[in-house]
Amino acid sequence: MATRASEATSTEATVASRPITIAVANQKGGVGKTTTAVNLAAACAARGYDTLLVDLDIQGSASAFLGMSPTEDEVDVARCLLEELPLSRCVKSTRIEHLWIAPAGERMSLVDLHLASAFGRERAFERALTTVAPSGVHFDLIIVDTAPYLGLLTVNALVAADKLLVPVSCEYLPMLGLKLLGETLDRLRDRAGAKADVLGYVLTMHDKRERISTEVEQLLRARFGERVFETVIRGNTQHKSAPSHRKTIFEHEPAGGRGREDYEALATETLVRLELIEKPARKRARRAATKK
Ligand SMILES: Nc1ncnc2c1ncn2[C@@H]1O[C@H](COP(=O)(O)OP(=O)(O)OP(=O)(O)O)[C@@H](O)[C@H]1O
Ligand SMILES: [Mg+2]
Repeated sequence: MATRASEATSTEATVASRPITIAVANQKGGVGKTTTAVNLAAACAARGYDTLLVDLDIQGSASAFLGMSPTEDEVDVARCLLEELPLSRCVKSTRIEHLWIAPAGERMSLVDLHLASAFGRERAFERALTTVAPSGVHFDLIIVDTAPYLGLLTVNALVAADKLLVPVSCEYLPMLGLKLLGETLDRLRDRAGAKADVLGYVLTMHDKRERISTEVEQLLRARFGERVFETVIRGNTQHKSAPSHRKTIFEHEPAGGRGREDYEALATETLVRLELIEKPARKRARRAATKK
């Protein structure tokens, strides 16, 4: 585990005293939410941050990614939400050190309907999060994968989150969808006490040789400025094949691959934005300094 803020020296990576919850959300389907949630969580875990990946999508894709498909008898995220159980009841360790998962099974499809008539329906997930870690574990980060629609499950994720990370694929013009997401977040801040702010927009499936990629990138950087991550996730067939092998990009792609490199860089930038680590000096600046 990384060092807690109170114990750290100025050069060490630090962690917050309570977990930071990041919702990975965009109501547009197929933009790389699950790929980003899983690989970002794996990259943070690899650095020693005790990380919980929560699958809040009826498709259960993040769970399947890590080879978890809860049976009817097992407690999963859905059962925690349907029966008002603490999330710790469904949290499981994974084969990756420092990475845990709260998996989603088939009952997820019942949750939206159930929540529609429940008291405090926007805060069910936040309530479940009050007891999240199994005994003896302290999570540093909670990364939540969400569904491709703005239903109650996604609303619950937005209300419970400290930060919102928005993957934007470079395959379509995204502004209208992002406007809707921004308006939804504003409404939830006003009416449901959501506190999340946007940690950043991440360009995914980027191919600098394609005009649509450069157009989407220019549009996003012009509109959102520094809120767009410098790191860009490049289009890469390894990302397409990794889920069917039920492997993260770090387990699937050979060392030195660009999928690994991109998610490593995204993890670094995320931890910098969360003020858990300092911004690494740029390589060129470092090289120049060594030459002097
Ligand atoms: N950088 C990438 N390059 C190429 N393919 C990618 C990349 N990222 C994700 N993919 C592929 O694109 C598809 C959609 O990705 P993913 O499932 O992560 O999106 P999603 O937003 O979670 O989808 P949904 O909205 O259905 O939950 C998947 O087949 C995935 O393997
Ligand atoms: Mg998904």
